[in-house]
Amino acid sequence: MASASRGQWSGKMGFILAASGSAIGLGNIWRFPYTAGENGGGAFVLLYLMFVVLIGIPLVLAELSVGRKTELNPVGAIEKLSPGSKWPWLGRLGVLTGFGILAFYSVIAGWTLWYLWAALSGKFAGEITPEISAQMFGSMTSDPLLAIMLMAVFLVLTIVVVQGGVSAGIERTTKILMPLLLVILIVLAVRSVTLPGGMEGVAYLFTPDFSKINFSVMMSALGQALFSLSLGMGAMITYGSYFPKDENLPQAGIIVAFFDTGIAVLAGLIIFPALFAVGIEPNGGPGLVFVVLPTIFNGLPAGGFFAVAFYALLAIAALTSTISLLEVVVAYFVDEKKWDRKKASWILGGSCFVIAVPSALASGGSPFFTNFMGLGIDFLSLQNVLWGNYSLSIGAVMLCIFVGWTWGVPKAIESLEASGHKFPASGLWSILIKYVCPIAIAIVLGYIIWTGQYF
Ligand code: TRP
Repeated sequence: MASASRGQWSGKMGFILAASGSAIGLGNIWRFPYTAGENGGGAFVLLYLMFVVLIGIPLVLAELSVGRKTELNPVGAIEKLSPGSKWPWLGRLGVLTGFGILAFYSVIAGWTLWYLWAALSGKFAGEITPEISAQMFGSMTSDPLLAIMLMAVFLVLTIVVVQGGVSAGIERTTKILMPLLLVILIVLAVRSVTLPGGMEGVAYLFTPDFSKINFSVMMSALGQALFSLSLGMGAMITYGSYFPKDENLPQAGIIVAFFDTGIAVLAGLIIFPALFAVGIEPNGGPGLVFVVLPTIFNGLPAGGFFAVAFYALLAIAALTSTISLLEVVVAYFVDEKKWDRKKASWILGGSCFVIAVPSALASGGSPFFTNFMGLGIDFLSLQNVLWGNYSLSIGAVMLCIFVGWTWGVPKAIESLEASGHKFPASGLWSILIKYVCPIAIAIVLGYIIWTGQYF
């Protein structure tokens, strides 16, 4: 059987863990707080939650239905459902986007390794003031060789897992560690919220100031919803393709979405109270989380231990996400180009290293990439916006049209219900995927393109 040789999750739980592993990562813990901080807090959070429900969850199910039906990578899957059409280009855009995201994501992931090392060597045992923390962060990111090496180490870790194949590598990595991450996050959130002045951060996160809402905030919230749920480039198509035939797919998909969103909110409850308590500005950019966190370990009982546990789990959460990014690219070359999995993993991961170098130099390592071409944005943030917001949104809108109109909602629902479990919300889902999602995304994207406020 073809599916047996491609590998399959060991069951619904295996899928939930693996897909959560893909979804939960730096997107929740690094990207969500820093993007919320740059976009005014509560208003952004409200829009983000709205987009998760209205666009994110329907799209999770759309991608999973395509994957389950075809048991193929995004390109092969779309080709199979719409032979001879131009639609497979949507899959190719997805593969390219996975590559683009991996090339900046692995830089941030590399930073987590440095912080893990710092925690292990007891750097966070004493009191860390915001100034000391900012300086620590800066001295790491502005060391070009260090930043490149950290990124390279992370890519090698990713390659090693992906070359081992899907269920063996990915599932095992996620199984124990995701629940552990949840526990640590809860402890840190309690610590942070109870800091003197911490409640101000909670208010910042949950009190929407509607005057802050504009199209650029909407674009960021939409991008964040897609990015966090690993949508818009076929990662969920790929993961759905390994989904067991006899299990309830919609239910599993919705659980993953809730779990992922919960972790993001939890990360917000760690970062914002702490930031208000120690007096750091919320709009600190990509370094925000890395600067804020070291300031809270000291007051925690066994703070040194928590620091180590936190950075270890953050690195692992990042790894289960980079795995899914590389997996999409590798699955394409294995399925469509008949490459050997091992060879594909090393060649594609290796090329990603080359493309990631400018992003590694974008936080002080090289003036050219730190203020890229004098645009007033660093190269890494630019990649983050380009791939993470725009490319994913374009992929998402096209996927809605493909599933809702070309392949067609009835067939998608048939695939979602293939196990014999009825999908009770199928009527609502078809309205969302055919009308609400594509129109909403197209309006936001269209407005941004029209007015040229790209970043
Ligand atoms: N969702 C992951 C995170 O939040 C990142 C990620 C993994 C991703 N695979 C993806 C984002 C595919 C978009 C598409 O960290």
